[in-house]
Amino acid sequence: MKQTLDWQKYLDTAAQAVAEGIVMLCNEKEALPLPDGEPVALFGRTQLHYYKSGTGSGGMVNVAKVTGILEGLEEAGVTVYAPLLETYRKWDDAHPYDLGSGWGAEPWSQEEMPLSDAAAADAAAQCSRAVCVIGRTAGEEQDNRLAPGSYLLTDTETAMLRTVRRHFKKMIVLLNVSNLIDMQWMDDIKPDAVLYVWQGGMTGGTGTAAVLTGAQSPSGKLPDTIAYSIADYPSHSNFGDRENNTYAEDIYVGYRYFETFAQDRVRYPFGFGMSYTTFDIAAKADGSRITAAVTNTGKYAGKEVVQIYCEAPQGTLGKPFRELIAYRKTAVLQPGESGTLTLDVTLPAHYDEKSSAWVREAGEYRLYAGSDVRRAACVGSVTLKETELVQQCRQAMAPVTAFQRMKPQITDQGAAVAWEEAPLLSYDEAERRCAALPEAWETQAETKILLTDVYAGNGTLRDFVGQLSDTELAQLMRGEGMGSPRVTAGTASAFGGVTDALTAYGIPAACCSDGPSGMRLDCGTKAFSLPNGTMLAACFNTDLLTELFTLVGAEMAANKVDCLLGPGMNIHRHPLNGRNFEYFSEDPYLTGMSAAAELKGLHAAGVTGVIKHCCGNNQETNRHFLNDTVSERALREIYLRGFQYAAEAGADAIMTTYGAVNGLWTAGNYDLCTEILRNEYGFRGIIMTDWWANINSRGCAPDRNHFAEMVRAQNDLYMVCADCETHEDDILSELHAGTLTRGELQRNAMNICGFLLRTNAMKRLAGEDTAVEIVNRPAEETDDGAPVVFYEMEEELTVDLHDIDTARGTNHAFAVTVNQPGWFEVTVTASCDQSDLAQIPMTLFSMGTAFGTFTWNGTHGEAVSYTKKMPLFSHFTTMRLYFAQSGLQMHSLHFKRLSGDFDVSAIAETEE
Ligand code: BGC
Repeated sequence: MKQTLDWQKYLDTAAQAVAEGIVMLCNEKEALPLPDGEPVALFGRTQLHYYKSGTGSGGMVNVAKVTGILEGLEEAGVTVYAPLLETYRKWDDAHPYDLGSGWGAEPWSQEEMPLSDAAAADAAAQCSRAVCVIGRTAGEEQDNRLAPGSYLLTDTETAMLRTVRRHFKKMIVLLNVSNLIDMQWMDDIKPDAVLYVWQGGMTGGTGTAAVLTGAQSPSGKLPDTIAYSIADYPSHSNFGDRENNTYAEDIYVGYRYFETFAQDRVRYPFGFGMSYTTFDIAAKADGSRITAAVTNTGKYAGKEVVQIYCEAPQGTLGKPFRELIAYRKTAVLQPGESGTLTLDVTLPAHYDEKSSAWVREAGEYRLYAGSDVRRAACVGSVTLKETELVQQCRQAMAPVTAFQRMKPQITDQGAAVAWEEAPLLSYDEAERRCAALPEAWETQAETKILLTDVYAGNGTLRDFVGQLSDTELAQLMRGEGMGSPRVTAGTASAFGGVTDALTAYGIPAACCSDGPSGMRLDCGTKAFSLPNGTMLAACFNTDLLTELFTLVGAEMAANKVDCLLGPGMNIHRHPLNGRNFEYFSEDPYLTGMSAAAELKGLHAAGVTGVIKHCCGNNQETNRHFLNDTVSERALREIYLRGFQYAAEAGADAIMTTYGAVNGLWTAGNYDLCTEILRNEYGFRGIIMTDWWANINSRGCAPDRNHFAEMVRAQNDLYMVCADCETHEDDILSELHAGTLTRGELQRNAMNICGFLLRTNAMKRLAGEDTAVEIVNRPAEETDDGAPVVFYEMEEELTVDLHDIDTARGTNHAFAVTVNQPGWFEVTVTASCDQSDLAQIPMTLFSMGTAFGTFTWNGTHGEAVSYTKKMPLFSHFTTMRLYFAQSGLQMHSLHFKRLSGDFDVSAIAETEE
């Protein structure tokens, strides 16, 4: 069936998600919505540089047009006070935006314009309202800092807010930020309205303007608790270390901690968010069914979220006073209108480390319903006479280092923080794995079975896998990238048919692209940029997420991308984690439901998402080597729980992490990949490493080529290898040594090939049409049109590139006169002063088509070359180099003619 993607619907749906994800914290004196027909004074440099997302792989979406807050307001017909805007523009021209240089190096914020009293006074004479925009970013490889310009406001920003406050009666502050920032300035400045407008992707300004003008009432809810001070977050004293973070707060993360131990440290509670209107929620519980009648009691139309929390009995385990167990958003309710929501809840289970089981302890489970965790009122309860066994497990992933963890001690006043020893690992991990080694099998088929045959129903997957040689199985465990020419140009990886031998078996090459906030196509191809993960969670609207991600899925299908590397599901353990913007929330239920909703949309479009990074990974600083010391209970109830919800809802691809959890790097952790994800959660898909991840065996140092431990763990795919045929790892040597078995390789091959059978890549190979037609998309932007230098192609040609600009977003174009078409070996050479793990891509276009993306890690200034076979078939071949990140020093491009006949049909093969 032919799919159509209506670009306008895509824009509208994303803008709707922005409008629904904005969280309004206060709105005094009816500062908002902006009155019709009045000019508004816009302050803050960010008005000219909207942050559409955070930085790193989760933000590198090439967009044709970003509608920021200024453009959004203008498009909505709001007059932005021109003289002030002009002042900002002039200052901005004289103080260019600082992109930083290279991977993870963009500053958290930009220098702010010092605001004069005169400029503020002039604007105040013409406008009743000031809108101040504060911007922040952060991302991969770069945590936020407890410093001005990052978590804290700078002096210039504070001065700007103070000046505006002095001159304006109505002052609105918009936070265009990746995640929570310090809010103590509110006490000093006392703005009338404050809104977290997050980072809303390419339609961020459209959705924001819809809220500011009152076209929509805000209905977003906080996915994280806003505490008075950063030191109030229970993880604070155990965040930021380069070697090890001990999760001493245990399961008491976010509101679980604040509601239990420190209610008075909360400025805005989890789930909080205001509307222009007011609502009355009348809820009652009948057993585990809650019916909530929601009435709009105010003057504006709007939506409200009903949130259900449970207070489980303390029992022997100890519990947080509140746990989110359900939520739903109403439809738009007009003033005076009522709507009824019905929510069926499952009582929470808790993990008992003593019996290694999920249990529901006996006692009273009180149910609360309301518009945030603090306002939720008791609506009934369910009493369990006896403790219920929910699932018997075996100890897994437990800590190996003794530490004290938090637990509640119940007093007359509530709960006090007490401490207990976390239970330690008490079984032999290798013994467990060896006791369940899969048997190998051989296929006795007379003729070769192709995977395309299996797809067509002619042969079984088991027989197919049984034919693969050890070498072929080893190749299958390797993903190729970045920028593999086997798949869509500029993407993160290909896997499956990544060598000639595997391709000859009819195995397609499936394509993975970052994720999560839209497709990252490093060759410069334009894609849709989505609101960030935190903003999507703040919608508290799973239907809307599914609707949006059905459109994302169609766009992926149109670009022959099979897997989006997202959603990101790590828990917001601490506000300074740089990648919080990619992730949803401090709460695992909201995280799991948001991810499941997105996956449902992707699956409906025939593609999928790789949920990541499983698990821990709550800090960017030294992320490749950092160890998390964390109890089994906290892992299961908090850090793995979202993945569990997603797996139970049909997730079929998971990415493990860079760092270690309790001494084991996750990519080689059998108990994570096999015992928990597959055996307990029933996950039936592929597990891949993060890009160039380390792997270790218990007690050993991490090593990027220790693939054997990855295979043993049943982490199926190593991402990524430059050449999957010649890559040197230890799979075959360990196989020959008898420490790895053919059965383990075959088991993983079953996972990979079973997954591939369900992809569009398989359908395309089988000749089935998966094309998607995109309609209503504005004409693409064209190239910059700089003069092009022509070179003569003889047997060899060296193009000197030492002087070219390689700043992010730059193109360098030239042309080659090819007198005799043929196959050439092209060698690209560059150096990079960035860290070893930086990823600086350069995409080479030939005749307007991306030929390949070459990605350099840091080279310590040394020249590093990549070589590929390339057909040059046109007499005048235009070429273009595109730099998606700054930080490369290009040296040269060298072409050398290869002998042999030129077969044009082979070109199609390289372009596939
Ligand atoms: C990130 C992943 C990402 C991968 C591919 C890694 O650095 O941690 O989230 O998907 O790169 O770009």
